[in-house]
Amino acid sequence: MRLFDARERDGSATAQSAAFLRALFDRLADADRDVGRRRIRPFVTLSYAQSIDGSIAARPSRSFALSSGPSFDMTHLLRSRHDALLVGINTVLTDDPRLTVRRCAGDNPRPVVLDSRLRFPMDARLLAHPDRRVLLLTTGLAAVGSINRLEAMGASVRVLPQDESGRVDLAAALQCLADMGIRSLMVEGGASVIGSFLRARLVDYCVITVVPRLIGGVKVLDGPCSPDDLPGLSIDGCGYEPLGGDLIIHGALGGPGA
Ligand SMILES: NC(=O)c1ccc[n+]([C@@H]2O[C@H](COP(=O)([O-])OP(=O)(O)OC[C@H]3O[C@@H](n4cnc5c(N)ncnc54)[C@H](OP(=O)(O)O)[C@@H]3O)[C@@H](O)[C@H]2O)c1
Repeated sequence: MRLFDARERDGSATAQSAAFLRALFDRLADADRDVGRRRIRPFVTLSYAQSIDGSIAARPSRSFALSSGPSFDMTHLLRSRHDALLVGINTVLTDDPRLTVRRCAGDNPRPVVLDSRLRFPMDARLLAHPDRRVLLLTTGLAAVGSINRLEAMGASVRVLPQDESGRVDLAAALQCLADMGIRSLMVEGGASVIGSFLRARLVDYCVITVVPRLIGGVKVLDGPCSPDDLPGLSIDGCGYEPLGGDLIIHGALGGPGA
């Protein structure tokens, strides 16, 4: 895991965003020791951008840029501090993301995709990642032929148990990542994946970029993220930082439902 280093003390925009994320970086340092010693699941940071009304995209299956430049810089800095970066297959199909660190100095995290049926496209940019093999976490619903084809194209595929909805079981996914030596995981989206991690109480820290727009699009949560008898989740010791016209809300996930 890469921790706070000299490159972020140079007065740049990423240095400014690093300063308010120091609490997260301290938590990552602790997690690095804990995960290494006890082989527990990776530390999970949830980071995504939403409009004021809670939309993470304008329309389903349409690519849509939300954050300001400085917020993107911060996202890339966060990426560089994590061992792995996870998205759902719909985000791959919609955005064809590279999931690399391009807007600051730092190493690329290992890209990970949740893809129960292996719909991953053969021409995805993640197959041309500059230095990391994309890791596809799938289930027994994936065709053996697709597994073989994608592995031949450079992907790593792991077949994991299904959850009650037939999707990749998240506890098994995190165990798989821990077994591979991954100590910190950044989860970027999309909505289904964010909801699954929150409902499973598998998020340690949140960094949410709130963009001053009203969109009325795809909502980040499409239902309660706690059982009926519990209030929702909350962020403990929540920090609020303006950045490039956006508002960054960050802190450890806690509260009554956590
Ligand atoms: N604003 C942001 O920060 C941000 C960030 C990322 C993405 N996005 C946007 O989000 C949208 C995509 O979101 P989405 O909700 O449609 O899809 P998603 O969260 O990217 O992917 C969801 C899919 O992942 C697969 N999956 C496998 N295991 C899962 C599990 N345990 N929990 C949840 N999903 C699992 C499922 O497909 P299978 O059943 O086929 O496996 C599921 O339908 C795009 O428009 C993208 O641009 C926005």
